[in-house]
Amino acid sequence: LKAVRFSEYGDFDVLRVEEIDRPEPGEGEVLLRVKAAGINPIDWKVLHGDLADGQPLAEPRGLGVDVAGVVEKVGPGVEGISPGEDVLGNSSTAAYAEYALSRPQMLHKKPPGLAWEVAGSLGVVVGTAYATIEALKLGTGETLLVLGASGAVGSTATQLAVARGVRVVGTAGPAKLEHVGALGATPVAYGDGLLERLREAAKEGVDAVLDTSGHSEIVAAVELKGNVERVLTIAYSPQANDLGVPFHAGGGGELTGRALQETIPLIEAGRISFPIAGVFDLGQVPDALRQSEHGHAAGKLVVVP
Ligand SMILES: NC(=O)c1ccc[n+]([C@@H]2O[C@H](COP(=O)([O-])OP(=O)(O)OC[C@H]3O[C@@H](n4cnc5c(N)ncnc54)[C@H](OP(=O)(O)O)[C@@H]3O)[C@@H](O)[C@H]2O)c1
Repeated sequence: LKAVRFSEYGDFDVLRVEEIDRPEPGEGEVLLRVKAAGINPIDWKVLHGDLADGQPLAEPRGLGVDVAGVVEKVGPGVEGISPGEDVLGNSSTAAYAEYALSRPQMLHKKPPGLAWEVAGSLGVVVGTAYATIEALKLGTGETLLVLGASGAVGSTATQLAVARGVRVVGTAGPAKLEHVGALGATPVAYGDGLLERLREAAKEGVDAVLDTSGHSEIVAAVELKGNVERVLTIAYSPQANDLGVPFHAGGGGELTGRALQETIPLIEAGRISFPIAGVFDLGQVPDALRQSEHGHAAGKLVVVP
């Protein structure tokens, strides 16, 4: 099978499309023929060695944690999922490949009408957006500040919060302010003078803050909030760390299952917008990751092997 691989941490030029053996599903595992695999910032962070604590890469590996595909084969002990079924969720082996392994508890049935590109991009984003909204325990009529309301996680969290009757103030770059407004939030441009603009947009202050951008806006956000209670970041930044803002590790397990169950019908009904900004084949993964790292994509970037 063809797979995107690298044998040392580095920039995008260390990535190669290689031919490797197709994995066999072991006990409790499912082999998927990958139809789409969403790009997430974690992929370029892993590639650059940002999570390696200075250690060299032990053996060649691939990238990609979100997946949608067709069940090709199931391993011993797998129940409730059969070859030929269309599924989506997270993979347990690198998903920028023609085949990947997963486990039934990480997968969800793909509705026939849902585009493969969307299906393959939902796991991390929907799981994380839902988990953070739950963790912030938002009530109807409260005000949430979302930093990065134009991004994949930020825009999904914004829409989930708005659907729960929460008032959202959301930051974005100049090109995305209109889009953030269309999601039901009050848009505020990031950049110099942010605190004044936030005070103007949220005259009564905010009840909670979700930082998805990982940039310096967290400083103004904490100043506006007055403390770090009900303030979370999903994107590590030195400023958030210095301020004592807790890091939230996103979804996973049953929570992501519930998140997908509740959110997919809203996406299918057009009540939650989940745009796809670009589709890439395996050879174009370096380009896709570069665009993701640039940080201003107008939706999800997706690999279709
Ligand atoms: N902890 C977890 O479990 C978890 C899970 C998922 C993601 N994450 C992390 O969350 C972050 C966002 O992920 P994503 O998939 O939503 O990324 P994304 O779609 O690329 O969104 C990036 C966001 O950052 C904003 N941004 C870019 N440059 C900025 C700047 N200079 N100042 C302020 N804002 C800026 C963008 O705004 P404009 O486009 O409007 O410029 C956009 O809203 C990443 O760091 C990712 O690793 C963590």
